[in-house]
Amino acid sequence: MRQKLRLKKLKHIYIHWPFCKNKCLYCDFISFKNHEEFVKDYHDALCKQIKLFAENNKDKWKFEIETIFFGGGTPSLYPLDLLKDLFSVLNSNFNLEDVKEVTIEVNPVSVIKEHLKTWKNLGINRLSIGVQILDEIILQKLNRIQPDQDVFNLVKIVPDYFENISVDLILGLPGTTLSKWSNTLKKIVLWPIKHISVYFLTTYDKTPLFYKVKNKDITLFDENDLISFYELTVDFLKDNGFEQYEISNFAKPGFESIHNKAYWDRKPYQGFGLSASSFDGKFRFVNEKNLLRFIKCCNQKYEKLYCYQEKLSKDEEFLERLMLGLRQKKGIDLHRMLYFLKGEKKNKFLNVLIDLEKRSLIHNRGGKIYLTLKGIMLENEVILKLI
Ligand SMILES: C[S@@+](CC[C@H](N)C(=O)[O-])C[C@H]1O[C@@H](n2cnc3c(N)ncnc32)[C@H](O)[C@@H]1O
Ligand code: SF4
Repeated sequence: MRQKLRLKKLKHIYIHWPFCKNKCLYCDFISFKNHEEFVKDYHDALCKQIKLFAENNKDKWKFEIETIFFGGGTPSLYPLDLLKDLFSVLNSNFNLEDVKEVTIEVNPVSVIKEHLKTWKNLGINRLSIGVQILDEIILQKLNRIQPDQDVFNLVKIVPDYFENISVDLILGLPGTTLSKWSNTLKKIVLWPIKHISVYFLTTYDKTPLFYKVKNKDITLFDENDLISFYELTVDFLKDNGFEQYEISNFAKPGFESIHNKAYWDRKPYQGFGLSASSFDGKFRFVNEKNLLRFIKCCNQKYEKLYCYQEKLSKDEEFLERLMLGLRQKKGIDLHRMLYFLKGEKKNKFLNVLIDLEKRSLIHNRGGKIYLTLKGIMLENEVILKLI
């Protein structure tokens, strides 16, 4: 008798929308401004990729989707008629009955009630609003045109449609002062939001910010200043009911992001769209990053759609588990990590752990290890010591 193969479950989907009104100087995401003429072609390509994937993989995966994440770029700019069309493609290719979380990243400027109403009707149930800091002058200098009043207006109307609201902040933007940062935190904890992400400003290679720093037009904060800002943030958010569950993420009880947790726990996910990455449990794939080539690949049924594909070695998997696990408050299971190590390597790892614990860089609670506050600030050093 032929044995029936048990299909793996695909539960998480990422969809990339690579268009923005403006390009912020610090941004390294694949996104373009002034590309309106490509919007329809890109949407068609996205739909084609989804259909092709579902068709080609129905014998490999059971599509029981639990989370969908619309990231960008600025997916809040997705024209509503096209977004409706995309949802009908999703619905006809995947089982969405068990969907728990559908997030859309929102740039607060130019969102109106019509967007909120349509998103809600389509099944979107979580908004991630990019606020960064409540100071339009700081943002303007980084080419982010975001009047504070637009943010306040949006926050006023969003709760009529959504309960699960998240806000993104960036810590360390040039021009930030203690009072400006505290003012932002004090205001946002009063909003009816459930989740806050606080990212450290990263200066990515070859971004306009990178060159401004290189030419000394912009000076960044030093590490000690960032530590003070971060400590203040963690304490303040905790006092106001937001539990930290990962280095950059804070949530009211029950509102941790299911989608992000799937990434950190190395669950399979499928990415659709330009530059989107996917993981099938063994291999990582990254879609084509060139807009015209991406559109062409989808029209030609996939040919050379991936610009990158790799299977992680055991060492790389160990490193990845370490990096993703140490950042989460639930930590990583020490015994599980030891499974990757043999002989001398295992002894060295255990000795380094003892040393890191003595230096208060990691906690070891009942075999679960995770970074302390000091460890978070010295994350790279901790990881380097451990590998
Ligand atoms: C793709 S963007 C979100 C949506 C929208 N494009 C926006 O900017 O409002 C995701 C988030 O990444 C964060 N981010 C972007 N560039 C960053 C950088 N260089 N360093 C730290 N955080 C960054 C911001 O907090 C931003 O809200
Ligand atoms: S709006 Fe968001 S995606 Fe667009 S350039 Fe700014 S940070 Fe990048």
